[in-house]
Amino acid sequence: MKKIAVCGKGGSGKSSLVALLANGLRERGYRVLVVDSDESNPGLYRLLGFDKRPEPLLELVGGKKKVFEAFSENPDFPRSVLTQEEIQVADIPGGYIVERDGIGLVCIGKILQSLEGCACPMGALSREFLKRLSLQEDEVALVDMEAGIEHFGRGVETSVDSVLAVTEPSFDSLELAEKISTLATEVGIESVWAILNKATSEEIALRLRGELEGKGIAVIGSIGYEPEIFQAGLEGRAVCSDKVEGDIESILDGLL
Ligand SMILES: Nc1ncnc2c1ncn2[C@@H]1O[C@H](COP(=O)(O)OP(=O)(O)OP(=O)(O)O)[C@@H](O)[C@H]1O
Ligand SMILES: [Mg+2]
Repeated sequence: MKKIAVCGKGGSGKSSLVALLANGLRERGYRVLVVDSDESNPGLYRLLGFDKRPEPLLELVGGKKKVFEAFSENPDFPRSVLTQEEIQVADIPGGYIVERDGIGLVCIGKILQSLEGCACPMGALSREFLKRLSLQEDEVALVDMEAGIEHFGRGVETSVDSVLAVTEPSFDSLELAEKISTLATEVGIESVWAILNKATSEEIALRLRGELEGKGIAVIGSIGYEPEIFQAGLEGRAVCSDKVEGDIESILDGLL
């Protein structure tokens, strides 16, 4: 069904929100594929309540050095599930996806060594995977993007339906939300929203909302600063909080 990219400034709360939205979607009966497209941070699997990370999809095409060749027209390059024109969730080999009650997690690839070269191949793989990913009516893909906006330059968003810009109360985060909104619109995405995160008071949330709306950015919802979310991040465990359930519900109402 829908492919949703969760973007924003470093530390704004993208991964925590991906986990909360995945749980909320699951409660509505959707099957969720979370795509970890962040090549640096290791811990999304923990926020989702998994005890191990899936093997990186990068390995399925033979590693970073092989990505561009894999998606070239070279007929001699060994075919893999990732180079199929359409990839169903069920096609992803065991080990490369971890699953629990209707939530699956795949990981594009992680930076492992110093001097291993730039991360462009991972961006290319994210783009090709999302383009080929074919979802059933009851499936949603949630993409945890790396911080910032470089992924727009790599075309990762070219086949997503919605972009969510997670915005925390800081000037830089607001500025980045505006940039994300512009870049997503340029790619042709119509469903572009900001989510306010970590506002410590109603007054700050209102101020943030006013500033975003003043920039022409629609705000789909707001999650306040919630100690339970912070604690889960601190301890590296599953994020869940009854206190924000209603806020997640209203974000999903707007999104779906
Ligand atoms: N609503 C919230 N209330 C309290 N703490 C929060 C909230 N959202 C996120 N946090 C905390 O903020 C920090 C950053 O969150 P998270 O890792 O989800 O951000 P991120 O945008 O994915 O970061 P990165 O750019 O490094 O991937 C963590 O300590 C997390 O627990
Ligand atoms: Mg993150």
